[in-house]
Amino acid sequence: MSRKIFIAGNWKMNTTVDDAVALAKGVVESVGPQDDVDVAVCPPYTNLSAVADAVMGSNVKLGAQDVHWEEKGAFTGKISCAMLKAVGVTYVIIGHSEQRQYFHETDETVNKKVKAALGSGLLPIVCVGETLDERKSGSMEKVVETQVRGAFADISPDDALKCTVAYEPVWAIGTGETATPEQANDAHAFIRKILSDIYSDDAAQAIRIQYGGSMKPANAKELLAQSDVDGGLIGGAALKADLFEGIVKPQ
Ligand code: PGA
Repeated sequence: MSRKIFIAGNWKMNTTVDDAVALAKGVVESVGPQDDVDVAVCPPYTNLSAVADAVMGSNVKLGAQDVHWEEKGAFTGKISCAMLKAVGVTYVIIGHSEQRQYFHETDETVNKKVKAALGSGLLPIVCVGETLDERKSGSMEKVVETQVRGAFADISPDDALKCTVAYEPVWAIGTGETATPEQANDAHAFIRKILSDIYSDDAAQAIRIQYGGSMKPANAKELLAQSDVDGGLIGGAALKADLFEGIVKPQ
C-alpha cells in the first residue's frame, strides 16, 4: 500500500495576519505546483481567511488548529466546524498535546471533536503521543493505545479513512530532541496495529500516520523514509518557508 506523504505546518500561536499571509505566500512559492506530497498550513483562527486567499489556486490546503464540537450557541471563545468550513478549511488538528496539557483536552473531547469534524466534512488530524515520564516508565504503548481507541470510538471505518493520525511524542515537541527514525517507526507500526484491530488491516494500511516533534530539513529525509511514517506535523520549522520546503522536499 503506498500512502502519499502528507506534510502539515502547525503554526501554533504565531503570526499576525500580515505575517501569516507572507508566510503562506512563501510556502506556496517554495512548494510550487508539485503533486507528490500533500501539503497543508494551519494558522491561528484569526488568519484563516487571509491565508485561504493566499493559498487559493495552489496545492497548499488550509487547516485549523482546533475546533469545538457544538454546532453553535453560547460557547464563548469557541469556533464551530461550520465556521471553519465557511472560510475554506480542509483539515483540523484535534487533540494536540498542548491542548491536552494546558486546556483540559481529554480522549472524550477529542472523540467529540473528531465526530463533529467528520460530520461537517472536515478532515481530522488526530494527535497522540506520550510524555517523557510515560516513555521512561514503559507505558508508552498503553498511553498511545488509549488515546487512539478514545479518538476513534464509534467512528465508522469509512470515516476513519478520512483521518490522519499524528504521532507526536511530547518530549520531542519544540525541544530539538527528535525520536530516532526507529523509535518513530516502531510507534507508528504500533498505532497501525491498533487501527487494524479496531477496523481492518486494509483500513490500517490506508490511514496516514504523520510524525511530529522537532522535524526539520536535517532529519526529515530519514524519518520520511521509514515504512510506517507517512508525513510530518511540523511546528517550529513550519514558521520559515525555506525550512518547511526542506521538509516537503527533503534532500
Ligand atoms: P515542533 O512541533 O515541530 O516545533 O516540535 C510539532 C507540533 O507540536 O506539532
